[in-house]
Amino acid sequence: MTTLLTTPVPTASGDLTLRHGAARVLLANWTGTSTVPSHGLYPHQWSWDSAFIAIGLRHLSVRRAQRELETLMGAQWADGRIPHIVFNPAVPLDAYFPSPDFWRSSRDGARAGAPAGTETSGIVQPPVHALAAWLVHQADPEESRRRGFLHRMYGSLAAWHDYLTGPRDLGGGGLAAVIHPWEPGMDNSPCWDGPLQRVAPAAPGTYRRADLDHGQASERPTDLDYGRYVRLASDYRDGGYADAGGRHAFAVEDPCVNALLIVSEHALARIAEQTGEDPVPHRERAARLTGALIQRLWSPAEGMFLCRDLITGDPILERSLAGLVPLIVPGLPRHIVEALLKTAAGPRFRLADLPMAPSYDLTGHAFDASRYWRGPAWFNINWLLHHGLRAYRQHGIADRLRSAMLTAAGASGFAEYVDPFTAQARGTQNFGWTAALTLDLLADAGPATSPAPGART
Ligand code: SER
Repeated sequence: MTTLLTTPVPTASGDLTLRHGAARVLLANWTGTSTVPSHGLYPHQWSWDSAFIAIGLRHLSVRRAQRELETLMGAQWADGRIPHIVFNPAVPLDAYFPSPDFWRSSRDGARAGAPAGTETSGIVQPPVHALAAWLVHQADPEESRRRGFLHRMYGSLAAWHDYLTGPRDLGGGGLAAVIHPWEPGMDNSPCWDGPLQRVAPAAPGTYRRADLDHGQASERPTDLDYGRYVRLASDYRDGGYADAGGRHAFAVEDPCVNALLIVSEHALARIAEQTGEDPVPHRERAARLTGALIQRLWSPAEGMFLCRDLITGDPILERSLAGLVPLIVPGLPRHIVEALLKTAAGPRFRLADLPMAPSYDLTGHAFDASRYWRGPAWFNINWLLHHGLRAYRQHGIADRLRSAMLTAAGASGFAEYVDPFTAQARGTQNFGWTAALTLDLLADAGPATSPAPGART
């Protein structure tokens, strides 16, 4: 099987103009130690952004891609968590909210092991990092070995996965839980509407939304959602960022987060092989996680994975693209793969005829083609789907998606997200992961340039 863990061979036939445009974005967003997703809207280092960015940056500079991940891991907490934001002290406090003086990580996170010398947020984002480290290694294994890159990453990545599968297994069923809508990265997905009903929003006058300085209100989360995000984050902070024993008003198991954890756990096994560690525990953990993902989140009736609300114990009956992302997990039972492909091509996601898959069910009651994660198409999730399609040998539809993504990326000015029907730019532009994943797609011309199925590289 050709999976995310195999490396595409760069091709000379890529679109040079697009490549130069994407490279320009990554060069402009580089701060010297990491890459901002966007200088205006997101002027610090974001966790899963950095992982996706490293995956693209490796095609420009392997050293820079390594540095991207090393900077992020340098802000890891002693309990293993990788914070979702690492703050740049040179950026003014009012440039982004919630700012370091809101999270107060070095003080309020001290008991959970927050670093003393770097300010970070206290929540996490999806674990794309071991996958990114492996792909960065593969871009130039000799350089990676010379710099001891994987040796330096392995312990941190293993601690990160221990955190997610240990203190974050809040449901006790073997999956990682998220405790804030920012953690799965799909902030205002309709999946969170139900669970958020339980959260009293922070009072409107107590904070200022810096995001509206840079983005249109109609393309961003609502004020009501924001108030709830702020309340959940301040409650977590005031509890010392404790997980075990913490009383979480929001606790959800998400299929995209856990699918990425599984793929990253497989990557960690490959990294362990290279560093002389035992890969077997990682393979076993990946297998256990895969079993738990199917047992707890698969919905045969919907033909896709659903989130589970850990407070009520029930599946969340909203269909988000997160529920198709497990297509990246290797070795799924055939009936699940077939159902996922049918749902992807069906009226809810129209993967076969729209430019890119929408973030939420096109026929859903909450669908909105412009508003953040309630309908627009995102490049990172479509990049994951592209790999899932290749993994299960759907090369025709994967080729079509790749080419539509490249067209949309260039035409939209490397937009943060696009209208799923027209591919017109939404959100901000010159967005880090859009540019990075464009470079990665340009280097991946499809099955002819990928290693043979089942190849272990
Ligand atoms: N995505 C969130 C924001 O919009 C937080 O990571 O700021």
